Amino acid sequence: MAKDIERYNESDRVNHWVIAITFVLAALSGLAFFHPSFYFLTNLFGGGPWTRILHPFIGLIMFFAFVSMAFRFAHHNKMTDSDKQWLSQWRDAANNEEHKLPPVGRYNGGQKVLFWVMVACMAILFATGLLFWQPWFAGNQPIWLVRAATLLHAVSALVLIIGVMVHIYAAIWVKGTMRGMMQGTVTDKWAKKHHPLWHKEMSEK
Ligand code: HEM
Repeated sequence: MAKDIERYNESDRVNHWVIAITFVLAALSGLAFFHPSFYFLTNLFGGGPWTRILHPFIGLIMFFAFVSMAFRFAHHNKMTDSDKQWLSQWRDAANNEEHKLPPVGRYNGGQKVLFWVMVACMAILFATGLLFWQPWFAGNQPIWLVRAATLLHAVSALVLIIGVMVHIYAAIWVKGTMRGMMQGTVTDKWAKKHHPLWHKEMSEK
């Protein structure tokens, strides 16, 4: 029987799940401030003031954990011409007609686009969040800057939340993918089917 292939080591997985957990907490506490209809979410964090205190610290842990992951995985997410071709045929991927797509390496074009969207959103959330994290940082900035930062913070959070929903959907939809991030390994068959170029690379090692 073909051997399983390691996709994520222990440290990659701990890093990823710290991001996932802090992301959920940051999203829930952030939504509580986004609109009054979500204010009830502050109950999860010990009330309004505690939610306001905790949200930026949770965000910071998420951001720095993400920076660590982004450095580990950036080189796997370089766009190639074949990825662009894959993206132009995204309908074939959605229709489960993978055989029509160009062969994929460690990640497909969709995963790579999502990776860079995550990088952009995290960078914007961090920079804008610092700008209005009173009383430490938001001292004498002009009000228009604080307002612009608040708006950008909310927009990038929304884009990230939608992006992560797509990410989770794809992780569950492509059977055998979750196992890679839970146990660290994927089956030989999974790698051959979804990431044939990466499978070839790993088999030659
Ligand atoms: C909350 C539930 C989440 C689940 C169930 C989940 C699941 C997964 C799975 C199964 C993989 C492996 C994909 C593969 O090997 O092809 C993965 C990879 C990854 N995840 Fe998540 N994830 C979650 C949240 C997040 C969040 C919040 C972020 C960051 C904002 C994130 C960032 C990443 C990145 C960067 C990768 C590597 C893919 C790449 O480099 O292109 N994940 N995730």
